Amino acid sequence: MAEIIDGKQIAEDVVAKVKGLTADLTAKGHAAPGLAVVIVGEDPASQVYVASKSKKAKECGFHSVQHTLPADTQEADLLKLIASLNADPAIDGILVQLPLPGHIDSGKVIQTIAPEKDVDGFHFVNVGKLGTGELETAFVPCTPAGSMILIERVRGKDLSGLNAVVVGRSNIVGKPMANLLLAANCTVTIAHSRTKDLPALARTADILVAAVGRPEMVKGDWVKPGATVIDVGINRIPAPEKGEGKSRLVGDVAFEEAAKNAGAITPVPGGVGPMTIALLMANTVVSAYLKAG
Ligand code: GUN
Repeated sequence: MAEIIDGKQIAEDVVAKVKGLTADLTAKGHAAPGLAVVIVGEDPASQVYVASKSKKAKECGFHSVQHTLPADTQEADLLKLIASLNADPAIDGILVQLPLPGHIDSGKVIQTIAPEKDVDGFHFVNVGKLGTGELETAFVPCTPAGSMILIERVRGKDLSGLNAVVVGRSNIVGKPMANLLLAANCTVTIAHSRTKDLPALARTADILVAAVGRPEMVKGDWVKPGATVIDVGINRIPAPEKGEGKSRLVGDVAFEEAAKNAGAITPVPGGVGPMTIALLMANTVVSAYLKAG
């Protein structure tokens, strides 16, 4: 059976470091790191994520502000809010929770965030730095950055020459994940809905990252014996209409089957999820240090 990667514990280690860095910064007379989280509309999953981000920011000793805007907010008003947060010296990190309502152009919103406050790592400047290997000064998207930490905990820092398959090509996870693995000298393949014979491709992976948002799509026999499996999916399966069952959270990997083949695997919940939040805190404290000089 596979080692189950304890994302919750590893995230707590990261958060403990963030707390220490925050205490050092304020002890030197600087303001606490400031994180602004913006949510538009009432998507229940987004509300849960945003509440945990704001809560964790407070726990880290940050100045934490949340802007909750109605679903019919005009794009121009959201852009104005971002401009004011860009100009606010108390704010080091700005996160606009995605997805945004359909009448708002998400791309425009993201590109309005000042790159030096873009703790999500979605601005072209940060995407470009990651793509060109300027990792020292880039903000890297939180989910892939957290997934890399989990991979390194299992395989060590030297991932050179390993075959990595990333299933999913989103800008938030798949593409930045592939870039991070490439920067770590893996041989990287990005698979997606048009990929031919995905099970066979997945079986070539020493590191298999599933980020597609399809419940339990990756089956046990897609996993090469000994592989490291990182499950980024968080899918809520509704309760059956009749009977006892409750709704439950599952990943993009059929966990029980995959754990029989994998060397190490992340659970859902308790794997990648807590790392995403921890890395958001890490990016924010780094932003505050960069500003402090
Ligand atoms: N929606 C799902 N994941 C994310 C994320 O990492 N950042 C933001 N801003 N929105 C998201």
